[in-house]
Amino acid sequence: MKNRVLATIIFLLAAAGVADTTYLTYAEHKPEVASYSCGASEVTSGAKIDCNQVLDSDYAYIGPVHLSDIGLVYYLALSMLALTQILTTRQPYWLGKKLRKSSLLKKHPWLKLATLSEVIFLISLAGLLFSAYLVYLMAFVIGAWCYFCLLSAATTSLIFIINAIYLHQRYLHSPFLLKKLQFAFISFFYRHLLKPIAFLFEAERVHNCITQVGVLLGRCRFLKCVTKIKLSFSHPKLNRQLLGIKFSNPVGLSAGFDYNGQLTQILPSVGFGWHTIGTVTLEPYEGNSPPRLGRFPDSKALLVNKGLKSKGAKAVIRELKKVKFHIPTAISIASTNKHFKTTHQQILDILTTFKLFEKSGLKHALYELNISCPNTFGGEPFTSCPRLDVLLSALDKLNLSRPVLIKMPIDQGEKETLAMLKVINKHNIAGVIFGNLTKDKNNPAITQKDRKRWQKLKGNLSGKPTFERSNRLIKLTKKHFSDRFVIVGTGGIFNGEDALTKLKLGADLVQLITGMIYTGPQVVGEINLEVALKLKNTNGKRNLNT
Ligand SMILES: Cc1cc2nc3c(=O)[nH]c(=O)nc-3n(C[C@H](O)[C@H](O)[C@H](O)COP(=O)(O)O)c2cc1C
Repeated sequence: MKNRVLATIIFLLAAAGVADTTYLTYAEHKPEVASYSCGASEVTSGAKIDCNQVLDSDYAYIGPVHLSDIGLVYYLALSMLALTQILTTRQPYWLGKKLRKSSLLKKHPWLKLATLSEVIFLISLAGLLFSAYLVYLMAFVIGAWCYFCLLSAATTSLIFIINAIYLHQRYLHSPFLLKKLQFAFISFFYRHLLKPIAFLFEAERVHNCITQVGVLLGRCRFLKCVTKIKLSFSHPKLNRQLLGIKFSNPVGLSAGFDYNGQLTQILPSVGFGWHTIGTVTLEPYEGNSPPRLGRFPDSKALLVNKGLKSKGAKAVIRELKKVKFHIPTAISIASTNKHFKTTHQQILDILTTFKLFEKSGLKHALYELNISCPNTFGGEPFTSCPRLDVLLSALDKLNLSRPVLIKMPIDQGEKETLAMLKVINKHNIAGVIFGNLTKDKNNPAITQKDRKRWQKLKGNLSGKPTFERSNRLIKLTKKHFSDRFVIVGTGGIFNGEDALTKLKLGADLVQLITGMIYTGPQVVGEINLEVALKLKNTNGKRNLNT
């Protein structure tokens, strides 16, 4: 039976309950005008029919309130819920699409699971249990039956049964319901317990601590298995082949979280389809002076001032040689964060790092060329087209064995970005990543309070302030270069909807860091689940624009 038909039946039953209890309330308060007498007669079982005896008994009151008043409120609530369900039945979730997108649901995603039917279920279950108690009282304690009460018990039982039938049908057809519940539970636990504790401590210390936990989990097969069961979500529809590389899903960990490549063994269990190590630089660099990491929770952003902290290429390669990659792994490379006398020297520094990785024998799948780190000594020299051209010409000559993606700046206008893309288009570059951190202090996604704080601090922002800009540049690239580049959407992905936005605009893959810090590690599985659902709904076609 259709949802709307069931909702209408529930509404009519609840309306009958309203009529029943309204009459009783009226009779209770105006006995001279109306009476709830339904006569008194003996019945064979011994209990007689006598509404007055039941409704005037001590059991008809909770404190000073008559049960008919409570019943009236109960049926009014049910009828309003059923009516709302009739009006919004095409939007199965709580009060329809608009509310699904509201900040309330963003704060409490588990509410998405609480549809009107679940609320009706809980209320009518309470009504059913209370009616059963009243029937027991009439049969065995008061020794009299009341038609009105029996009518109410029948009404509430029917509402409960019909709603339960509907829920049963919906649960049977709700895909991945248990996974959704599992993620909702972990998300709740993370947001309300782990995150508040972690946010009491200095951000970089917490990052180091999480890395150590990740390393330990990655060493134990059992713990990896538990992590996988709890956090990851896989589905054949998420698989994709790009640049000759098989990705089990499109969601990757962005450069900067695992900058020395310590998390290779745990990230597949967290559910990532791919992973970027780095940014790695030729020479070791201990990072800019602290604080190197801060939090702007109101703007859903992190303040990053690491300045390409790295153990150096040789040390990273040495460590990576000890492990096996289980998912496609990219190595992000940039020039060492130091002062170079000439651009030529800086290019040489970058090329040497590429050569070291080429010779290393590691089984990485990709390279990222990071030309857009805003926290470095010399700024971002390779965002200027002539210098970029020289760098990429030199890189072409290396004939690299893996595809290269360029990590693009995010604060440039469309004209500058298109000019850079035209240069990149001439070279052996497989794709572009949009993009890096934002350094624009007028970014409208930053709250006034955070903007003021930022004035006094060094560093640039990740997270939500990068979301719209990344989207705009993905769209621009797709429009002007169609399928020439593999496009990676990075910046401000906090949930499945955010990832889908980037994929719909033309991204082939996505990456994130900040969303995971603010919403929890289950977000990777949640995103994959939502993408799989969307692909399922588009009948298996990869075209997310339909
Ligand atoms: C702590 C931190 C360190 C980062 N370090 C790097 C880096 O070394 N290289 C790089 O290309 N991007 C780096 N980024 C930028 C991210 O890779 C990403 O582009 C940006 O944070 C936007 O994504 P998000 O909003 O999902 O975090 C860093 C970001 C964060 C939060």
